[in-house]
Parts: sequence; C-alpha cells; structure tokens
Amino acid sequence: MIIEEITSEDVENALKCIRRSVEISNAPDYPPNVIRIQLEKHYTLEWMRNAAKNRYCAVAKEGGEIRGTGALVKNELRNIFVDPDYQNRGIGKRIVQHLERKAVEEGFGEVWLVSSITAHGFYKHMGYYDVKEVQERIGDDLVTGYLMKKTSQLTRGIVTTTKYGSSFVIMP
Ligand SMILES: CC(C)(COP(=O)(O)OP(=O)(O)OC[C@H]1O[C@@H](n2cnc3c(N)ncnc32)[C@H](O)[C@@H]1OP(=O)(O)O)[C@@H](O)C(=O)NCCC(=O)NCCS
Repeated sequence: MIIEEITSEDVENALKCIRRSVEISNAPDYPPNVIRIQLEKHYTLEWMRNAAKNRYCAVAKEGGEIRGTGALVKNELRNIFVDPDYQNRGIGKRIVQHLERKAVEEGFGEVWLVSSITAHGFYKHMGYYDVKEVQERIGDDLVTGYLMKKTSQLTRGIVTTTKYGSSFVIMP
C-alpha cells in the first residue's frame, strides 16, 4: 500500500470511498437525516474537487485502487475515511501518520482534529486526547463531535511548542 498526494485522476474514486464510509460506517452513529444531508450537500464531486485543489489531500492506494483518504489544513486533520471493506487493516493509521509527518515537517508541534462519534476510539488509540465536545447543527439535528489534540509522539519527531497552537482555527 502506498500513501501519496491526491491527483485530479483520483478525485472521483476518493469521493466514492468517502461516501461509502459515510453510508456504511457512520450511518449507525447518526440520525438518517444527518447522513442524507452529508451525502447530498457536503460530500459532492464539487466539494471533493475543491478540497483536492485547496488543501493537502492524501490517498491510500493498493494496486492502484483507492482504499482511504485524508487531508491536512495547517495542523488540522480532516476527512479521514477508509473504505468499509478495508477497515481494521492499518490503513487509517497509515494515513494519520502520513499527515502527522507532513504537519511536523511544516514545523507544527501539535495536531488537531474534530472527531466523528464513529472514529473517537480510533483517534484515542492514535494518541489524541479530548479537548472538548463540540456541537454542530446539521439540518434539524444537533450533532456531537470531539475536538481532539496530540502534542507528543507525533509521527517522525517529538516536538512540544505552542508557537502554532494559536494558529489553529476550526474551519467551516
Ligand atoms: C476511523 C477510521 C478512519 C479508522 O481506519 P481503519 O483503517 O479502520 O483503522 P486502522 O486499522 O488503521 O486502526 C489503527 C489502530 O486503531 C485501532 N482502532 C481502530 N478503530 C478503533 C476504534 N473504533 N476504537 C479503538 N481503537 C480502534 C485498531 O485496532 C488499530 O490498533 P493497532 O494499531 O494497535 O493494531 C475508519 O474506521 C473510518 O473510515 N471510519 C468511518 C469514517 C469516520 O468516521 N472517519 C473519521 C472522520 S473524523
């Protein structure tokens, strides 16, 4: 398996992977309307094309097939998704490590994320700890997320600086 930066040819299949993961893996943890809105309004081809253009996106590939994807915005992990048929094989971990390495290379000493309910245990296992619960309104539902942070044992390098901490913002 390789983890590499997304190309324009990868965009459609990376999106398929995200949508399958939302439909199958996230669905048990959220109201049906939240899943529907995520699929209809959020994870669209237009969104994916923009994401691939405007942020660092990585894809995990096996034999040329996309198995997972994730993104980094400054020092925030975004949209880590593994195809449900390929979960629990270390792919999510490899994507997170890849993005952490990139954040460290760019000089960041801490990495943030907002976790889904589904992935909360995974991120804890990866060394992230809870900062606070956050609520987001999606349609008529108030959805809980977990703002999490990792300051030590980031992949490739242990850095404890707060220089960039204040630069973190949760982007809409
Ligand atoms: C969360 C997700 C990305 C994890 O990817 P994955 O490829 O299945 O996870 P991995 O196989 O790389 O797991 C890495 C380690 O975390 C552990 N782990 C995985 N899921 C876990 C969970 N829910 N709770 C606790 N530990 C977990 C694994 O046992 C493994 O441990 P090890 O390294 O000691 O063997 C994937 O399940 C997914 O796409 N979920 C749905 C989408 C989602 O909610 N994404 C997050 C958006 S914020």
